[in-house]
Amino acid sequence: MLRSFLIYLSQAEWAMNLVTNWSVAWKVASRFISGNTIDQALQVVRELNAKGMNVTLDQLGEHTTNVNEANSAADGIIATLEAIDKVKVKANVSIKLTQIGLGMDNEVCKDNLRRILTTAKRLDNFVRIDIEDSPFTDITYDFFKQMLSEGFNVNTVGVATQSYLYRAEKDVRDLLELEAKFRLIKGAYKEPENVAYPKKADVDSNFDNLSAILMDASLKYGTKLERNGILPAIPAIGTHDQLRIDFAKRYAEKIGLGKEGYEFQFLFGIRRDLQIQLVQEGYLVRIYVPFGTHWYPYFMRRLAERPANIWFFVSNFFKS
Ligand code: FDA
Repeated sequence: MLRSFLIYLSQAEWAMNLVTNWSVAWKVASRFISGNTIDQALQVVRELNAKGMNVTLDQLGEHTTNVNEANSAADGIIATLEAIDKVKVKANVSIKLTQIGLGMDNEVCKDNLRRILTTAKRLDNFVRIDIEDSPFTDITYDFFKQMLSEGFNVNTVGVATQSYLYRAEKDVRDLLELEAKFRLIKGAYKEPENVAYPKKADVDSNFDNLSAILMDASLKYGTKLERNGILPAIPAIGTHDQLRIDFAKRYAEKIGLGKEGYEFQFLFGIRRDLQIQLVQEGYLVRIYVPFGTHWYPYFMRRLAERPANIWFFVSNFFKS
């Protein structure tokens, strides 16, 4: 109920105007966001790299409403790839297709995606396409497949899958035939019951099921972390849930998949203790580091995931 309301607010313009005008909102949001500029983000990347963690950089933004905005978002992503190459940090990038035109003008989106992937290929980097709400699932995978048919390969572009979707296993099995690299997550949007499991227990058990499928594929294809922390193996296990992480560790051990054959991914600012612990145990960890001024919807989804974050927000509001 509260989660649904917060997800609704994440898409409401009136709420965005209200929240982003409170200085206290940025104070709380900055726990999850590395800064407004690429330079601030790169400083965070250096610090994480120094702690033994790789990064995926996300220039915040989604659902752009005109061609200029979509093109300039793509320019920003290209500049991010150039900046990573220039300062030689261990980072790839994550993008949202609705930020570069999907849903507004799909041809503009495709052109922008081509431009981004052309740069990534030239710089030997990797682009992960985030997965958004279910009206965009089919088209996101269609664009991915089209990019492969145009000559980009799975070492330049990868995808994500949400364990709350009934369709996830089929998507994963289909795209694994192309050796696609996946980030597995539970899913952060409000989805109807005919599309997604309503019960957390089912989402969790499907997560473990999908972890196993992805790890089997990594073993079969012999994928591993490459390019000095930039190119991931097939499975990126994206969760802060200790039980899901424990399952993945046990399963990898059971099938004999080495630690370089998969990675754990965390959102910046969440379960830092667990991030460090995994690094100390010798596991590969990548942190999703968002930056930029369009932080409102991302921040609201983080509030929706954990009610305690709201009390943190509200108590700061009354303290201000
Ligand atoms: P769960 O929600 O069960 O949380 C487990 C525990 O983690 C909680 O008990 C708490 O301790 C901690 N925790 C979780 N969320 C927290 C928060 N916001 N603040 C503080 N503590 C928190 N989604 C999507 O739909 N498309 C995408 O492309 C991505 N991309 C993505 C990348 C990466 C690297 C991660 C880790 C996550 C995503 N997500 C995403 C978000 C994902 O779908 C999901 O909403 C969150 O990861 C929360 O789910 P958990 O797996 O952490 O489990």
